[in-house]
Amino acid sequence: MKNRHVSLLLVGLSLLVLLDHDFKGANAGNSLQLSLFNAGFQRFVDELPIPPVIKPDSEDITITMKQFTGKLHRDLADTVQWGYNGVSPGPTIEVERGQHVRVHWKSELPTTHILAAPKGMDMGGGGEPLPDVRNVVHLHGALVTQTSKTDKLHDNDGWPDAWLVPGEEQIAEYGNDQSARLLWYHDHAMGETGRNVATGLAGMYIIRDEFERGLNLPSGKYEIPLLITAKGVDGNSALYYTPTLANEFYGNAMSVNGKLWPYLNVEPRKYRFRIVNASNARSYSMQLVDLENQSPAPPFYQIGTDSGFLENTVVLNDPADPKSPELTLAPAERADIIIDFSQYAGKTYILHNNYVDQADHQLPMPQLMQFRVGTTVSEPDTSSLPMKLRSIPRMDPTRADGTRQITLNQVDMPDGTPMLLLNGMGWKEEITEKPVLGTTEVWEIVNTTTDVHPFHIHLVEFQVLDRRPFDVDAFAKTGQINYTGPAVAPDANEMGWKDTVRTTGNAVTRIIMKFAPYAGYYVYHCHILEHEDMDMMRPFEIVAP
Ligand code: C2O
Ligand code: CU
Ligand code: CU
Repeated sequence: MKNRHVSLLLVGLSLLVLLDHDFKGANAGNSLQLSLFNAGFQRFVDELPIPPVIKPDSEDITITMKQFTGKLHRDLADTVQWGYNGVSPGPTIEVERGQHVRVHWKSELPTTHILAAPKGMDMGGGGEPLPDVRNVVHLHGALVTQTSKTDKLHDNDGWPDAWLVPGEEQIAEYGNDQSARLLWYHDHAMGETGRNVATGLAGMYIIRDEFERGLNLPSGKYEIPLLITAKGVDGNSALYYTPTLANEFYGNAMSVNGKLWPYLNVEPRKYRFRIVNASNARSYSMQLVDLENQSPAPPFYQIGTDSGFLENTVVLNDPADPKSPELTLAPAERADIIIDFSQYAGKTYILHNNYVDQADHQLPMPQLMQFRVGTTVSEPDTSSLPMKLRSIPRMDPTRADGTRQITLNQVDMPDGTPMLLLNGMGWKEEITEKPVLGTTEVWEIVNTTTDVHPFHIHLVEFQVLDRRPFDVDAFAKTGQINYTGPAVAPDANEMGWKDTVRTTGNAVTRIIMKFAPYAGYYVYHCHILEHEDMDMMRPFEIVAP
């Protein structure tokens, strides 16, 4: 079941592959943008907002994309943004497992985009120019049917080419037949995802179930969603986006739940945080730090990942263990963590980011938000911190029905612009990956670039098998994979079910999944939105046996 045409294609393409020519971050070029948040600009002056919650009590709900203005920060002027129901992040939709919901996603956006179109965006080529504003909504991590690539009234997965223009609507049915987890929804229009998400078009979606309730986790006001994203804000408090898709959008300001560098008052007790990295391109490695007194900070107890609970709770940032890992999240990855502040009354912590990207180091974002621990609890904390959550049997790659190789390539077009492709192909090329419904496959994601690409597949949840370095030059010449080191097991907090995985540079990352329960059309892509937009995204079809 290996794709033989792939290696052939690659030999042809290898002449074009320039491995040392990396995409570079988009911060350079505007010193005003760079300097806006320098010394003197006060952080931690806005309280963390909690997005409104929608718990649908009927099958049909309507959510409308709207333009709105709001303050990103106390010391900035109003900023024009786009949001679902006119807020950003959009409302957190909360459903019970199995609860059927039909969302009417309507666009009441203006017909002119609030962000300039970057160089490299597909504006329609030689044919009819594409409308400047086009949107489609994807619920990331959702188990949905997708039988058509054109029917906007039955577009459950949000087909990238089935975009709406203002005045139109997309109807999506979500069966929500999934165990408790945090999904998130965001724009997914082909070639436009990065620019659209940079306006604020993203929100969270929580599935609850009986099992979760049985765990007695911190809940209510002690369960806090955190949607982390980097924004680009210019000297007039207006949003900006990357001037060219060849530069990932790293922004110049950190936003959590729509405020820049907010603070959160917490009680000295346990909290549960539902975290999604909704950034276009930035990854984060997070830990709490007491900047003033250097006192030990509370650890993170990670109980869940993209697709629900882990098997065992993983301790991160353990103050007793200097080798304890931080919480790393690439774009689209989620973490469900518990922090117990009970021994830390009266302290103040920064949520610190230590991730160093190859490109975003031009403008590092070491601080995300602040936590201020109070001295009293408003009620006794009776919640639990379970160390064992559920059983997750490991899938056995030797019993898979087949293996597929997916290469991540950077190639230079004849005019010198870099393109990012999958198996040497872009979005518009015909479907080549057709897994059979009900079969299990291993995908070897062969990253021939030096960058980390967060690889995401719609519909399925997978297990990460391993990562293994290989000889990229030899692969470019021969199409053969020669491993140069041992396979490295996934991190402890990658041992659950996932829908997005960090594929590290010059390595093969192996994942395993069953293609079920629906046949139909889905997509897989890099979740760095500028990569996805040009053109590291491909359709696939799950075919009936
Ligand atoms: Cu958040 Cu196609 O994905
Ligand atoms: Cu998705
Ligand atoms: Cu990528």
